[in-house]
Amino acid sequence: MDKIAITGGNELNGNIHISGAKNSALKLQAAALLTSEPMVITNMPELADTRFMVQLLEQLGMTVYWPKGSGRMQTHIPEIRSTIAPYDLVRKMRATFNVLGPLLAREGHATVSLPGGCAIGARPVDLHLKAFEAMGADIVIEGGYVKAAALRGLKGAHVVFPFVSVGATEHAMLAAVLADGETVLENAAREPEIVDIANCLIAMGARIEGAGTSTITIQGVTSLKGINYKVIPDRIEAGTFACCVAATGGEVVLTDVVPSTLGALLNALRQAGVGVETGEDYIKIKRDKNVPIKAVDIDTQPHPGFPTDLQAQFMGLMTIADGTSIFRENIFENRFMHAPELRRLGADITVRGNEAVVRGVKQLKGAQVMATDLRASVSLVIAGLVAEGETLIGRVYHLDRGFENLEEKLSNCGAKIARISGAE
Ligand code: EPZ
Repeated sequence: MDKIAITGGNELNGNIHISGAKNSALKLQAAALLTSEPMVITNMPELADTRFMVQLLEQLGMTVYWPKGSGRMQTHIPEIRSTIAPYDLVRKMRATFNVLGPLLAREGHATVSLPGGCAIGARPVDLHLKAFEAMGADIVIEGGYVKAAALRGLKGAHVVFPFVSVGATEHAMLAAVLADGETVLENAAREPEIVDIANCLIAMGARIEGAGTSTITIQGVTSLKGINYKVIPDRIEAGTFACCVAATGGEVVLTDVVPSTLGALLNALRQAGVGVETGEDYIKIKRDKNVPIKAVDIDTQPHPGFPTDLQAQFMGLMTIADGTSIFRENIFENRFMHAPELRRLGADITVRGNEAVVRGVKQLKGAQVMATDLRASVSLVIAGLVAEGETLIGRVYHLDRGFENLEEKLSNCGAKIARISGAE
């Protein structure tokens, strides 16, 4: 298994190009199931997760042409060959569950394995299923599989989500575009990825209003066309690099980003005393490493609040702040797995329930640590970049799920970071 070795202490200076958003790309891949015409998705991030989704789509009958390094994925599925997403494929990556809605909408039935829990929490899919039931689908859960059928087609419905769910909002939208009549989604999630998916569906011929607000209205259409669509920049990747530079000091321009999608993080960085300058499609992060970082409290919330997907990274930064910061994780019940690993590097963190108290220390020290999930593992990279000596991170396949060319992007800015292939 590969490891990442980092020798801390170097400032970061230069430019980093931000890749396409993983969490949008995965759902756009599922959206490609909704049309029998060829589609092209560009700015497609080359990640273990997006490659994994291709495996499932191919099994369902899609032809996928995605040359390495091109960022350009062509898809075509004139006919759906299978409506079954097996356990082995859904178990490894939860986002594959999102083929259920498109299969149901296009074919009237689908059998998709339940995704199960994961390191950050139980993550049920009840809200997804309730939305499909409201649209007239019969749902049976049997042998770990969701068997859904709407043999006379899905019908528009009024769905009020009891709390905000990104996945359920996206998934309901992916099904409702081909339903008969009007669907209204209330208390919908407002994440930029939802707007991106809606924009793609609209370009395919769907009729959607209100994406990005808490009420989304969809008028079903009978078919969608294939188009050429560019994935939005990954705000979480951009936010991660912003935390890296804030921690190490230096000056880095993040290019090909949408700064307005990162409002809460940029505010928190400014409060911490980090220089933040934004333009239409760039963010400049600047910090003099001799000026201490100020402690800032974080409360994760659905967008436009502080994203749970940047909580671990910001905690990595706060480990060296001057003062104490309190983190409240309000989205997932078990998302402080990075805390014990950060402690191995000398961080002072106490976790109680959904609250973590981080008392800043003067200096972290390199150690061997282990990645536990995608965002947790990159918080260890941030800590490793500022720790004295060498940090060795194991289980880096977690990082490969969501960060494209991470080592290259950081080392081009002066970080001492390398992958050790096949290390024990
Ligand atoms: C998406 O997960 C993202 N994943 C997550 O990113 C992200 O952390 C999360 O949204 C919140 O922003 C993808 O887009 C692939 P939710 P999702 O439905 O859709 C509960 C990463 O690191 N819930 O908004 O699964 C759920 O358990 C990943 O890139 C139900 O109870 O998140 C959680 O506590 C991790 N029933 C809360 O709602 C449901 O039916 C919010 O989850 C659905 C969700």
